[in-house]
Amino acid sequence: MSDSSLSFTVEPGGTLQGRLRVPGDKSISHRSVMFGALAEGTSEVSGFLDGEDCLCTMKAFEAMGATLDRRSSTEFSITGVGLHGLKSPGQVLDLGNSGTSMRLMTGLLAAQNFETTLTGDASLSKRPMRRVIDPLTQMGARIGSTDGRAPLHIHPVAGLHAIEYRSPVASAQIKSSILLAGLYAQGLTQVHEPEASRDHTERMLRSFGVEVEARPGYAALRGGQKLKAAKVQVPADISSAAFFMVGAAILPGSDVTLVDVGVNPTRTGVIEILRRMGANIELQNPRDFGGEPVADIRIRGGQLRGIDIAKDLVASAIDEFPALFVAAACAEGETRLTGAEELRVKESDRIQVMCDGLVALGVDARAMPDGMVLRGGAIGGGSIDSRGDHRVAMSFTMASLRAAGTIRILDCANVNTSFPGFADLAAGAGLRISVQNL
Ligand code: S3P
Repeated sequence: MSDSSLSFTVEPGGTLQGRLRVPGDKSISHRSVMFGALAEGTSEVSGFLDGEDCLCTMKAFEAMGATLDRRSSTEFSITGVGLHGLKSPGQVLDLGNSGTSMRLMTGLLAAQNFETTLTGDASLSKRPMRRVIDPLTQMGARIGSTDGRAPLHIHPVAGLHAIEYRSPVASAQIKSSILLAGLYAQGLTQVHEPEASRDHTERMLRSFGVEVEARPGYAALRGGQKLKAAKVQVPADISSAAFFMVGAAILPGSDVTLVDVGVNPTRTGVIEILRRMGANIELQNPRDFGGEPVADIRIRGGQLRGIDIAKDLVASAIDEFPALFVAAACAEGETRLTGAEELRVKESDRIQVMCDGLVALGVDARAMPDGMVLRGGAIGGGSIDSRGDHRVAMSFTMASLRAAGTIRILDCANVNTSFPGFADLAAGAGLRISVQNL
């Protein structure tokens, strides 16, 4: 939970070397708990992300009747209650910092015969929820909010009906929320999106035996289908790997291999963007973890160049822009990102917070309503307020690899939402990072 007293200090002069395994994919970990809880039988999960966001999902589904047996921090079995077996949690469900938990669970809970209230921390309570409330209301749901924001009060209704929804934003959270409600709706629930968002819901529902029709920008399923227990092997999270990819790419002489990383094509925008900037990235040992493509990613450092980031790459790199802005700050020439207004409604306003931090380090960066323009050059030392945003905090640690002075990053406790052990892993790879807990 946000503890503004936790900070990172990173000294210049670090390196990055070695084979690293970053923790499990956050999106896939959430879904493993949700679908395991709805399935008939016992599902086995390995590679789970033992971070605060996913633990919020776990606690919520345990409170609603799923039985979990945790064998280690990353391995558990979950015995589901079946599509219609969830029970009232008997308490408000606090989802912490986790937008994925709140949006996906709203879809699922809209169809239950009990009432639930979902809350979250200060950041989550500011994030827009109308984007799921509106389509779910069209399906017949009754959801109360404070001006489209949490806490959300989800009231039982007699039943939901399928809709064909054209989402104004490419968002896997919106799509998944509607599809989960669609499991309980009569008829064929269909979602269209302006760009393809991550498709983990579609892939994992299939591995749980649900028939899903999916192609880029479209997903559909018929209500009433039962989920059958499955084995889920969670790949390492490309969004967590991205910090090390950027760190290695900006520092000549670095050589890092990130192992077991999920390389689902709806998530690999960061690889494509870094390659277009001139980065040396190799995908090795391609394989499959239960319908999700996986590879080892080797990155060697060099000089990057600034680019115009194509709009069609925004959705597939949406969580990686904080790290990519740091790469751009180290590149030769100008980098321009447009069409990324979604960054303003993530765990923080990632356009403003990143721009403020880069400017504090002496980088020539300018925020725009839907992106940023920045010119690479010298990076100085300074103090950065991460505003409790895990990805902002981790991105700025990598800037130290090219900085002239010490960088102090404030309000870092939320790194534990997605990347427990980050500072230790980064220090082991050569970053000169220390943690202060005052
Ligand atoms: C997620 C989808 C993305 C991403 C978030 C996780 C998911 O959000 O930013 O970290 O697991 O579905 P949007 O779908 O709202 O872009």
